[in-house]
Order: sequence, then structure tokens, then C-alpha cells
Amino acid sequence: MGYNLLKGKRGIIFGALNDMSIAWKVAELAHAEGATFTLSNTHVACRMGSVTELAQKTGSEVIPADATNLEDLQNVVKTSTEVLGGKIDFVLHSIGMSLNVRKKRVYHDLDYNYLAKTLDISAISFHKLIQTAFKMDAMNEYGSIVALSYVAAQRTLYGYNDMADAKALLESIARSFGYIYGRERKVRVNTISQSPTVTTAGSGVKGIDGLIDFSDRMSPLGNADAEDCAKYCVAMFSDLTRKVTMQNLFHDGGFSSIGMSLRAMKQYNKSFDSDDVQDLY
Ligand SMILES: NC(=O)c1ccc[n+]([C@@H]2O[C@H](COP(=O)([O-])OP(=O)(O)OC[C@H]3O[C@@H](n4cnc5c(N)ncnc54)[C@H](O)[C@@H]3O)[C@@H](O)[C@H]2O)c1
Repeated sequence: MGYNLLKGKRGIIFGALNDMSIAWKVAELAHAEGATFTLSNTHVACRMGSVTELAQKTGSEVIPADATNLEDLQNVVKTSTEVLGGKIDFVLHSIGMSLNVRKKRVYHDLDYNYLAKTLDISAISFHKLIQTAFKMDAMNEYGSIVALSYVAAQRTLYGYNDMADAKALLESIARSFGYIYGRERKVRVNTISQSPTVTTAGSGVKGIDGLIDFSDRMSPLGNADAEDCAKYCVAMFSDLTRKVTMQNLFHDGGFSSIGMSLRAMKQYNKSFDSDDVQDLY
């Protein structure tokens, strides 16, 4: 059942690649909640076909863009306001990619050209997107811009590699630009720090299955999945959150605040019962 939370709102959703993508779930729910929006992804992703399927389902136009390219971004913002018939109320930045992760370069053997690309695609593109919208005065007052982050921005988690640095920068950009955009135009900028989720980008991370299982067991509420994330994004786009800005909002079943759980303590104690471990004393 919908609540019409986004009735009459216009948006731009970046990063829906396939039906596992978090952005895909956000688009479906935003549509169900009454929003109209455009969809954007890389030229290659848009040619692959599934974005078109989502566009048909949600009555949206697809505008290809490399999110690191300013001209592409200007075109997305301009075309979106034309197609949707006015200024924009919400933007989702659901973009991430690391060549170091893809090419299995570990953190103590990074390729710096790859690192520059990771930062540009996964973090600086957020600044480029916000700056483009700001300069074009394309957002309505109390409009909401959201990017997706991960707790590895703040705590070290094995295998997340240079994406951790990119997410730290992404969260910082939300605070820095959030201040200026709020002060000048009353536009909100936040990041949502999502549980590890089974998606195409997620599956590139080393040991992702173990990480998903670990955080699911450690979180009192268990992991948040892509549908849960879509609900939080829609709430952040709605008028119910008009005074929330410059925040990194954890959406992870409580994982980020847990040090030791009862379950983990029992497992930890059990590990010392085995003969192997006793021999170590
Ligand atoms: N999956 C997880 O475990 C998880 C957890 C926390 C945060 N996130 C974040 O959520 C966001 C969405 O990722 P996802 O998990 O849905 O995976 P996904 O692979 O479905 O989405 C990533 C998207 O980034 C797009 N992209 C890559 N390079 C681009 C570029 N140069 N220009 C424009 N778009 C580009 C891809 O085409 C893809 O659509 C990412 O920022 C990711 O880091 C994911």
C-alpha cells in the first residue's frame, strides 16, 4: 500500500543497473509513491537494456551520463527539468566503482590511477552533481539529495579496500555542500550508510558473503536489504524529513553501534573450548 509520500515530486535517480540495484528498488517505490523522475546511468549501462525495462515500468525517460563528466551531468539536469516540467525535488546518487577492487589490487598495493578513478566515480561525482544542480538552480526549496555510503567510511572492514576512502570523502561532501546548499537555497544533502547488500557492485567486494553474514548476526535487527533501503530513501525525499541535512544516516539494523553482542560473545567463548585453542596457552 502506498502513502503518496512523493505525490507531485520530480526526481533524478542515478545508478539503476539491474533489478538487484538499490537504485532500481528506489525507482520502483518512488513511482509507487507518486513521483515522476528520470533515470540515469553510464552510456554502456543504458545500452544493456534493463534500464529501459525499468523506464517503461515507471514511465521514466533514460538520460545516459558518465557521472564524472560535467557536460553529461549538465545535460541530465537540464533535460530532467524539461521532461518533468519544473525544478527537481529529489536526487539519488547510487554510484560506486573501484578498479582496484575489480582487478583484485589489495589496499597495500594500490594502483594510483585506479584510486583516482575510484574517488572520481564514487565520491567526486557527488560533488560534481550537486555543484551542477546548484549552479543551474535546478532544485526546489527543501529538495533532498541523497547518496549511498557504507560503514567502512568510518570503521575498517576487511576487503572494502579503497572504496572506504571514497565513502569517507562522499560523507564529507554531504556535510560541506549540505551547509552551503542549505544556507543558500534550503536544499538538503545527506548520505545513507546502508548494510552490505547483494548487488552487482556489492559482489565485487572481497569476502562479501562473510561480511553480509557477520553484520546480519551482529545487528539486533539484522541487515537492511535493498527494499528497506528504498523505503528510507523515499522517506528522505519526502516532506516528513524537511529538517534533516548534512547527516550520515546509518541504515543497518544497528550494526554500526554494536561492539559485542550476546550471540558473538557466546561464539567467542565457544572458540576457546576447542582443544586446538587450549593448546595455545
Ligand atoms: N551493495 C552494498 O553492499 C552496498 C552497501 C552500502 C552502500 N552501497 C552503495 O550503494 C550504491 C549503489 O550500489 P549497488 O550496491 O546498488 O550496486 P550496483 O552495481 O547495482 O550500482 C552501482 C551503479 O554505479 C553505476 N556507475 C558506475 N560507474 C559510473 C559512472 N562513471 N557514471 C555513472 N554511473 C556509474 C553502475 O552502472 C551501477 O548502476 C553505491 O554507491 C554503493 O557503494 C552498496
